[in-house]
Amino acid sequence: MAYTPTDRVKKLTPSLILEISAQASTDPEIINLSAGQPDFPTPDPIKQAGIDAINSNFTRYTAGGGIPELRQAVAEKVSRETCIARKAENVVITSGAKHSLANAILAIINPGDRVLLPSPYWVAYPEQIWLAGGEVITLPTEQENGFRITPAQLEAALATDPKLIMLNSPSNPTGAIYEKKHLDLLVPILKESGILIIADEIYGKLIYEGHTFTSLGSYEELKDQVLIVNGVSKTYSMTGWRLGWGVGPKELVQKMAIIQSQMTSSPCSISQKAALAAIQRPEAEFAPMLNAFQARRNRALEIVDQMPEVTCHPPEGAFYLFLDVTAYLPERNPADDKPMRSMELARYLVKEHKVAIVPGMAFGSDDHIRVSFATAMEDVEEGLKRVQKGLAEYKRR
Ligand SMILES: Cc1ncc(COP(=O)(O)O)c(C=O)c1O
Repeated sequence: MAYTPTDRVKKLTPSLILEISAQASTDPEIINLSAGQPDFPTPDPIKQAGIDAINSNFTRYTAGGGIPELRQAVAEKVSRETCIARKAENVVITSGAKHSLANAILAIINPGDRVLLPSPYWVAYPEQIWLAGGEVITLPTEQENGFRITPAQLEAALATDPKLIMLNSPSNPTGAIYEKKHLDLLVPILKESGILIIADEIYGKLIYEGHTFTSLGSYEELKDQVLIVNGVSKTYSMTGWRLGWGVGPKELVQKMAIIQSQMTSSPCSISQKAALAAIQRPEAEFAPMLNAFQARRNRALEIVDQMPEVTCHPPEGAFYLFLDVTAYLPERNPADDKPMRSMELARYLVKEHKVAIVPGMAFGSDDHIRVSFATAMEDVEEGLKRVQKGLAEYKRR
């Protein structure tokens, strides 16, 4: 019998990011501002821990939920950072933060359950929710409000009886952070509702001057409701090692570990040893990377400031600019429920101006494009120059 895709697969959208980055990789002249990963190498001591794991034949399956010493180390790290005690039994180690998200959604969501998703959102969230049969309820946020949901908006959305909310701070793509003052307003509402919360804090260490990060895991009253998702990809430049974790209520992380043990057996043994070394390094060692991101962010904002009719909420964390380019796009067709104006622009920029960016549509906003500054300063400068020239010509066509 010929293959027919399942209903759950049919709903998935092909990755818009992959299309653009595939094109970017075909031509060395193209400046790639679409990357979602630090351009720095994994630090040597961490690499060495991976090499040592191989040399000592630590190359077999591990426990499904991860090796005990890494679970313990993550529990201690999170306890330290949130001032709330967590034990190894609250931790599941996964193949990247992304797999924690997927496992958690599968463990929480029954077909038909509703999930609140502030928009713009990271690309994988709606797809993972659909795979679990869940229904996405988006909570649109505005650039003028710093891309944060308001307490009133949250209260109203809770009337739809959702089971879960996904909160990503700092956000990919907007760079917005829910700082303590914002969380303090949302937490009583979240507590009152009893809703489960996935707090994706993968960019929690990439915070810019003048801003502070508070983990949703630091609210004692939410301890039974929150799953903190994090990992080594962004903080330690380890995207390819595929190692992350979820920290939350014991019953939830146990179910996540069971799902994982049936799907992938365990996270990579070698990467777990490298991650253990990573989280035990002094944080000061990573300051040069953060300083480089800070300098690129500031320079990128200076350039964007000179772009007529382009606006941007200065990122408070992560390494992206989410540029509002509405002024350069054709009129929106209100009847079009799958608008692709930002995708058309992205295709044009990569083809005609040799600069790769990500269309905002991938994150639920067709008015924006996402520019990554996780690349060398000269590329950020030259790439943004090309974006500016490309936008002007796109409008004149
Ligand atoms: C918001 C967000 N969450 C999670 C991830 C996944 O990280 P990992 O590499 O640990 O799977 C990413 C990666 O781009 C991300 O941007």
